[in-house]
Amino acid sequence: MNKEYLLGIDLGTSSVKVLLVNTEGCVAATGSAEYPILKPQPLYAEQDPEAWWTATVQAVRSVLAAAPAAQPAAIGLSGQMHGVVLLDQQNRLLAPAVIWPDQRSRAQVQEITAGIGAERLYDITGSPLSTGFLAASVRWFQQEAKELWEQVAMLLLPKDYLRWRMTGVFATDPSDGAGALLLDERQRTWSKELLQFLQIDERQLPPVLPSDQIAGHLTADAAGALGLAAGIPIVTGAADTACGALGAGALSADRLLLSISTGGQLIQPVDEVRIDRRGRIHTFCSALTPGSQQAGWYQMGATLNAGMALRWLRDNVFAWRYPDAYDVMSMAAANTPPGAQGLLFLPYLVGERTPHMDPTARGAFFGLTLSHSQGDLVRAVMEGATFACYDAYQVLAELGVHSERVILAGGGAKSPLWRQIVADIFGKPVQPLLTSEQSAMGAVLLAGSGVGLLDIPSATRVWAQLGDETQPDPAQHSFYQERFGAFQSLYARNQGHFV
Ligand code: XUL
Repeated sequence: MNKEYLLGIDLGTSSVKVLLVNTEGCVAATGSAEYPILKPQPLYAEQDPEAWWTATVQAVRSVLAAAPAAQPAAIGLSGQMHGVVLLDQQNRLLAPAVIWPDQRSRAQVQEITAGIGAERLYDITGSPLSTGFLAASVRWFQQEAKELWEQVAMLLLPKDYLRWRMTGVFATDPSDGAGALLLDERQRTWSKELLQFLQIDERQLPPVLPSDQIAGHLTADAAGALGLAAGIPIVTGAADTACGALGAGALSADRLLLSISTGGQLIQPVDEVRIDRRGRIHTFCSALTPGSQQAGWYQMGATLNAGMALRWLRDNVFAWRYPDAYDVMSMAAANTPPGAQGLLFLPYLVGERTPHMDPTARGAFFGLTLSHSQGDLVRAVMEGATFACYDAYQVLAELGVHSERVILAGGGAKSPLWRQIVADIFGKPVQPLLTSEQSAMGAVLLAGSGVGLLDIPSATRVWAQLGDETQPDPAQHSFYQERFGAFQSLYARNQGHFV
């Protein structure tokens, strides 16, 4: 076995991304494969776990085809958070996975929050409960699909299903466990109080292991499917936001990270659990055990609609099916001035988390005229998604976060136009993370640490390279400040009218 390589698998919301990296942090090969979000009913968002597996096989095989000599010494996993996979006693899938943008569990969110008490819930878990979170989806199954619920023997988060397919071992880690909203964040164990309230037997949940602990080894069957050698150690891994923070080098409190991908996440590592009593942000366990160079938690302002809104525009409004559609959209938007000729976009296509925690919030184009072009629509969507992130930053700032600059990651960091929009709206210099796929990179780091090939804090200092700063334009910043006021009041004034 070549000890020089590590494999990171990030099970995202739209696709799985796979990186093969050597222990110096150089990427030898990458692969990815997509799967759809299923919407059998308007409020539902589901995925077929079998499709995750098929896509993973395809992506891993394409990586191995590109670098045939490189068998990894260990594998790490990162995954979309909050969702639930339900298995029966024979480990068969009972239903499609309910994933994080799902909104069917509004009533259950209210019931659980009222039953436990909002403040008590934040105290235990560090976060408010949202639709699409495992705890709320479980309650929905208990109430709306009783017969199915009675057969449930195991509840898994998305990446933990994948690891189980690869190792036959059930496990989760503190960062993903936290996103289920069933974890006692300080103890890093399942909360007995919450399990009792939700009538979940602890045996229906996997044990919580450190993110960089070896959770199991690749079985012969899985190895055959993936084209890898049997017996490769696989670490527990972590939630994609926690892995992304590792991949971006955001390990301690001096780094504010904004990741713009399907949604937008503003991440600030913290040394202790710090709670927002108004329940507008999440404080989740990081992928690291608290220590001198590494924060054990991170505060996160999570917005739900960024790249997702652009994809909606491409697919449902423009119906552009050609492969470089995003480039064309970006070019059109770059030819339009800041402010998109008076067009504002409220991006809440699947409701919003920070700061509103409102699954009923809806999107809007405001200020349309006959002269608006496709470029204006694209620019308004990019600006609206960024205003939503800036709105999340207002909450973090109120809770004491002050950052001189923004490190920008995700698909948004690759676009010079989006970098400038972020710099101008935030009024701060923006530095793009040069590592693409920072969550898969975080998974690689956890794998390397698990088999003793690297030390995460020292490795990230070298691996997480930042590009040139984009400077804010003070005149554009003041212009955007005024538009941000309009953006905020657009939601505030229409809050009661979304149906
Ligand atoms: C974080 C969240 C999303 C998913 C995306 O709270 O809901 O970022 O983790 O994959």
